[in-house]
Amino acid sequence: MAVGEKITISVIKADIGGWPGHSRVHPQLIETAEEVLAKAKEEGTIIDFYVAYAGDDLQLIMTHKKGVDSSDVHGLAWKAFEEATKVAKELGLYGAGQDLLKDAFSGNVRGMGPGVAEMEITLRKSEPIVTFHMDKTEPGAFNLPIFRMFADPFNTAGLVIDPKMHAGFRFEVWDILKHKRVILNTPEEVYDLLALIGAKSRYVIKRVYPKEGHPLPKDEPVAVVSTEKLYEIAGEYVGKDDPVAIVRAQSGLPALGEVLEPFAFPHLVSGWMRGSHNGPIMPVPMNYANPTRFDGPPRVVALGWQISPEGKLVGPVDLFDDPAYDYARQKALEITEYMRRHGPFEPHRLPLEDMEYTTLPGVLKRLEERFEDIE
Ligand code: F6R
Ligand code: MG
Ligand code: MG
Repeated sequence: MAVGEKITISVIKADIGGWPGHSRVHPQLIETAEEVLAKAKEEGTIIDFYVAYAGDDLQLIMTHKKGVDSSDVHGLAWKAFEEATKVAKELGLYGAGQDLLKDAFSGNVRGMGPGVAEMEITLRKSEPIVTFHMDKTEPGAFNLPIFRMFADPFNTAGLVIDPKMHAGFRFEVWDILKHKRVILNTPEEVYDLLALIGAKSRYVIKRVYPKEGHPLPKDEPVAVVSTEKLYEIAGEYVGKDDPVAIVRAQSGLPALGEVLEPFAFPHLVSGWMRGSHNGPIMPVPMNYANPTRFDGPPRVVALGWQISPEGKLVGPVDLFDDPAYDYARQKALEITEYMRRHGPFEPHRLPLEDMEYTTLPGVLKRLEERFEDIE
């Protein structure tokens, strides 16, 4: 492995049991996953790994040479989740194995429950990346911050003053309902892009690419987001599809501080209690990524890495473990308090079509006879 060679970074995550309730990952699950991945590292399946957590989601961060969608690497992640599930069951953790929706692995974890963000890239001389890990929300929660990093000049000064960034970026947006995608160019098509991604539960940013003329290869992503929708996979509510993302930084890409800047504003995301409420996303270090109040508020962790020429993950640096984000946390708590006062009323509670639990059909059925025509 060396600079100029291709390497793949895979972040694969699953909720395979909470401690207690849906709040956090038990340390023994982390240890178990570490054992499985350490063995695979010895055998050469992966180059390096780190096991992180965000809320009740176990996060496997891996580097390897096998490309995206590798059955070896996905199979390894599946095995790590299965082994950790056994421990979760022994400990009686809550919702043990909840995201492993299929009984047997069949080549790729996509559509089987876990969330995946992966990118195959040509390693730069120095490769700074950030992996983001969210709990109690959905992939569309990344729309606003990723847009800001790569398309908003009020966030990213480089779009204005770095000649390498001035031409803008290309956004791959998925319609997760119709399973279609479209590529939009910024800044030319910024308003079209916003028209779509403002509808964050339907249109999600999947990847961002450089444009023609950028020093980086045009077909290698500079950002990628997991877009699995658990409810579509399972056909019924099985928990929120808490998303992850990988973002490359510096040298013609948003600087580290431009990558983190969007999270100074704790924007409203869907999820929180029972996957059915709007609330602010609070940037926190990993040891504070344990939802409590009303199963929230939703959290985001940012882990910073340098990838060594050998493909090693040099890190993590727990980037929100910094007083610079105290204000955002405080603001998130104020918004939490404000939103909570609405109780079961929208817009705290999500509109009916976006709620993951709903009693409305039952309520309507019971009241059916009592509904009368209005003159
Ligand atoms: C939201 C989440 C939690 C649960 C809630 C109820 O994504 O995981 O807010 O929805 O704790 O969980 P159950 O139905 O398992 O009691
Ligand atoms: Mg859970
Ligand atoms: Mg979760």
